[in-house]
Amino acid sequence: MAENYIVSKIIDGDVAEHLSFTDAVAAIHKKKGYTPKYFVQTFGCQQNEADSERLGGMCVAMGYEKTTTPDDADLILVNTCAVREHAEKKALSIIGQYKHIKDRNPGLVIGVGGCMVTQESRADKLRRSYPYVSFTFDTGAIHKVPSLVLGALTGKKRSFILSDEWKINEGLPISRESAHMAWLSIMYGCNNFCSYCIVPYVRGRERSRSAEAIIEEAKQLIAGGARDITLLGQNVNSYNGGDGVDIAELMHKICALPGDFKLRFMTSHPKDASDRLIEAMATEEKIVKHFHLPIQSGSDRILREMNRKYDTASYLEKIAKLKEAVPDVSITSDIIVGFPGETEEDFLGTLDILKKVRYDMVFSFIYSPRNGTPAARMDCQIPREVSSERMGRLLALQDEISNERNQRFLGRTMRVLAEDVSKNDSTMLTGRGDSVRPIHFSADKSMIGQFVDLKIKNVSTYCFEGEILKP
Ligand code: 5AD
Ligand code: SF4
Repeated sequence: MAENYIVSKIIDGDVAEHLSFTDAVAAIHKKKGYTPKYFVQTFGCQQNEADSERLGGMCVAMGYEKTTTPDDADLILVNTCAVREHAEKKALSIIGQYKHIKDRNPGLVIGVGGCMVTQESRADKLRRSYPYVSFTFDTGAIHKVPSLVLGALTGKKRSFILSDEWKINEGLPISRESAHMAWLSIMYGCNNFCSYCIVPYVRGRERSRSAEAIIEEAKQLIAGGARDITLLGQNVNSYNGGDGVDIAELMHKICALPGDFKLRFMTSHPKDASDRLIEAMATEEKIVKHFHLPIQSGSDRILREMNRKYDTASYLEKIAKLKEAVPDVSITSDIIVGFPGETEEDFLGTLDILKKVRYDMVFSFIYSPRNGTPAARMDCQIPREVSSERMGRLLALQDEISNERNQRFLGRTMRVLAEDVSKNDSTMLTGRGDSVRPIHFSADKSMIGQFVDLKIKNVSTYCFEGEILKP
């Protein structure tokens, strides 16, 4: 690595040896007699949201209290994403705006972590062009944040970590955003090296947490009121908890825990999605009947170029098995439009898959070249106008299909967790049940975190309306 600024020993003689970095930061704040505030800004996927809850947990342990605005923060941590260029641009723009806050409050500490700064060029850009950023920390260095904060508070030089070491850090404190809905990371990293994707480079190789640690965390979550738990990993199908515990076995073990809760999982890779996992979904009542199985493209040629290691025929076979085992399953997918060399015929193959599978929902993305990935070096990058036009057609077709799929829920009774206040109407609550669309219903805020029986009164393309059934 050309420039490496690893913080080795930030604290020495003057801070008692036995104090951990966290305690040392807390001691500094206590001495000042002031409770400082932290703000965490998160970009990207659920993994990042889960990591941000760990960042929050460490901030609380360091004596900070949460604020919901960066303006009055004493510590700002930005958790970045690198999966598409747009996410990086957004993060850099927001970090740029933080300069004004730093100008007003020179004591403010700003740290940037996550996938974007795990690329050397981006960490270097922040070091050179954003002098008010005190440190960066890559995805493998989250646990080093207290030592970095301590360094910033004690005037040590700026630190830009590129550790290249991805371990599992058990035992970090977690400050969860919700008591009733929880992320539960079961594995980290990815070995697949899809040719368009930056993730394996910025999150390292696959490593699974032990089944015991996961089950222990699940028990604590349930005891703490969690009613909806999502198992997280880049490719949960290749989970390997040792002693033959695969994802299906892990889910059976979690479902066997006492308590009223629902279990979800994200994300699956079609080449690894096993019959055992499908069977677990079919037999375990606690597993939500939603399978996210990203196909990415409906052209076998493009799938080969993407290094996806399956073809459309084997994908459709898996979908058929899934539909047979779980007849009412909601299926969703990720699609990339405009991968290098994608012809009109390739794209029509993707539309054809949409028609054959009849997804409940699709997350579609225009291909974004990522430096360092094989696809970014491929000839025949597709002009933006072509990708945008194809994207328009894909969205229109999927809207039609979603609309049709949604009709099956009309008039149905569903048990739904009241997740939160509806974003569009503060007098309504929202939840999902087995559907992938938010269901809005009128209920008091005190119901949040409880299961309710809803009758679905109205369905539209993107959301449903329900009514609580009187007992
Ligand atoms: N460009 C566009 N979309 C991408 N994804 C991953 N890398 C890229 C990229 N370079 C999409 C894939 C993946 C989802 C999380 O993001 O569809 O499944
Ligand atoms: Fe990226 Fe492919 Fe790994 Fe998913 S499976 S994180 S798309 S490399």
